[in-house]
Amino acid sequence: MIISPSLLSADFGNLNADIEMINSSEADYLHIDVMDGVFVPNISFGFPVLKYVKAATKKPLDVHLMIIEPQKFTAEVAATGAEIMTVHYEVCNHLDRVIHQIHEAGMKAGVSLNPATPVGMLKDVISDIDVVLLMSVNPGFGGQKFIPYVLDKVAELRAMIDNAGAKTIIEVDGGVNLKTGAQLAAAGADMLVAGNFVFSAENPIATIAELKKL
Ligand code: DX5
Ligand code: ZN
Repeated sequence: MIISPSLLSADFGNLNADIEMINSSEADYLHIDVMDGVFVPNISFGFPVLKYVKAATKKPLDVHLMIIEPQKFTAEVAATGAEIMTVHYEVCNHLDRVIHQIHEAGMKAGVSLNPATPVGMLKDVISDIDVVLLMSVNPGFGGQKFIPYVLDKVAELRAMIDNAGAKTIIEVDGGVNLKTGAQLAAAGADMLVAGNFVFSAENPIATIAELKKL
């Protein structure tokens, strides 16, 4: 399983220590949640913090934009050296154009769906999308409870990707732990985000290693 720990649950008073922990773990990515207080009812951190994080981490950045008009910030995200830039389907009037803008900026294009947004909305563009990020909580906060119907969405998306012969990665975000992670793996997920489960663990490095085995 590809593992992307979410920095949202890190200790913002001592980010260095938590980034060092991720550096020495088996994590594949570092998941970065950017919020605007408009698309989601919370504000996290912005690009100045992201540039600092990029300088401190050895892991590629997986940037999840929970903001309206995300296409306006493509250059800023690219400037942080991010590998994946993920936008929400719900805020893109011209999703096809946004996907191409992200590719032109040299990044992998991720598209996220809120729990209530059907996976079928991505059918016509699935081969152009590098990563579909299925939200398994309503976005905005860490530490929420996993929404079980997302398991059916993972299976439906797996079938859509396989039928299209696409290489799109299925990433799932929200309420991931060893139990829900195992269920997601069985349903066909490729990549898991974990915030609270990793950072509240007694041994976060061992917890990442356990998730990695799923
Ligand atoms: C929620 C964010 C998540 C969050 C996940 O809106 O997109 O990435 O950090 O946190 P947990 O794993 O605690 O649910
Ligand atoms: Zn996220």
